[in-house]
Amino acid sequence: MLVLGIETTCDETAAAVVERTGDGPGKILSNIVLSQLSEHAPFGGVVPEIAARAHVEALDRIIAKALMEAGKQLRDIDGIAAAAGPGLIGGVIVGLTTAKAISLVNEKPLMAINHLEAHALTARLTSGIKFPYCLFLASGGHTQILAVRGVGDYALLGTTLDDAIGEAFDKTAKLLGLGYPGGPQVEKEAVRGNPTRFNLPRPMQRRAEPDFSLSGLKTALRLEAESMVPLSDQDVADLCASFQQAVVELVHDRLRAGMKVFRAKYGTPTALVAAGGVAANEAIRKVLQRVGFEGGIKLVVPPGELCTDNGAMIAWAGAERLALGLTDPLDFAPRARWPLEEIAGPKPKLS
Ligand code: KG4
Ligand code: ZN
Repeated sequence: MLVLGIETTCDETAAAVVERTGDGPGKILSNIVLSQLSEHAPFGGVVPEIAARAHVEALDRIIAKALMEAGKQLRDIDGIAAAAGPGLIGGVIVGLTTAKAISLVNEKPLMAINHLEAHALTARLTSGIKFPYCLFLASGGHTQILAVRGVGDYALLGTTLDDAIGEAFDKTAKLLGLGYPGGPQVEKEAVRGNPTRFNLPRPMQRRAEPDFSLSGLKTALRLEAESMVPLSDQDVADLCASFQQAVVELVHDRLRAGMKVFRAKYGTPTALVAAGGVAANEAIRKVLQRVGFEGGIKLVVPPGELCTDNGAMIAWAGAERLALGLTDPLDFAPRARWPLEEIAGPKPKLS
């Protein structure tokens, strides 16, 4: 089964062709990602209107490139998948409308994909793991611990009460003048910094319910930084290292709580899976390893380029759904907000 996937929910214009042969891992035939970084960098963050226009200008070319690199034509493709939300609505409209047009003209089924579901299922594309698994989803907009019990069957165990982890990285970078996007910049600075110089808070630590809170940490960091102005290069590196250390310890503590809740409700997970841009961070990958090891659970972290937004994850989620006969009508509406628990699965849920 061959699926074309389209991703336009944020600041990457992406398309990919993925093959699914059976229950095992999939095969990525092409995965083209065009980052709009340079267009948004002068504004220190993603500007929705600029993003939507950039998607319009680039998407046709990116799709053609994905097909060419895969050595396929539209007539070879079994279904068209596009991210239909959650995300910046202008971009979502561009991707979904394009997918609908391709689907209509070529008489291929359409799969309107939830972007978070695509992150959640990526580990099955790369490793073919079985359900149920525990997912740590950490991106610019989300920080969640979920039980992934099947395609379309996700139970939220914990979430952030305020900022997402990626957002906290981005705000830290902005505060310290490190530019956008913040995560990779903060990580780079942290390497040469002292993680114990500043004693920053670890909110929610040791609570039984596996939720996160980042805003107290962010405020404490800002107060430290403001008290030292002007900041030396070493101050910046030490602030980044201390911030990252606090996040690492929080992830360790909160995920341990999450695994406990998972076991109590659903039994032993087949794996601990990480997804979303934050999972590209080496220090966080290391602590995930530790959580898995301590719990006797296999850790699955897709490679960095499949953790950040891409078309292959959308194509794969489309293939998983198409295999179950879960296609969508051409009037499917794009959604700015679309929580994972509200996704339709193969069976009606009892609760
Ligand atoms: O999943 P993603 O590509 O986009 C969505 O938000 O959906 O995640 C982007 C987020 C940004 O907040 C970015 O700063 C963060 O992931 N990020 C990182 C790293 N790379 C990306 N955070 C920490 N360390 C990194 N190396
Ligand atoms: Zn994402």
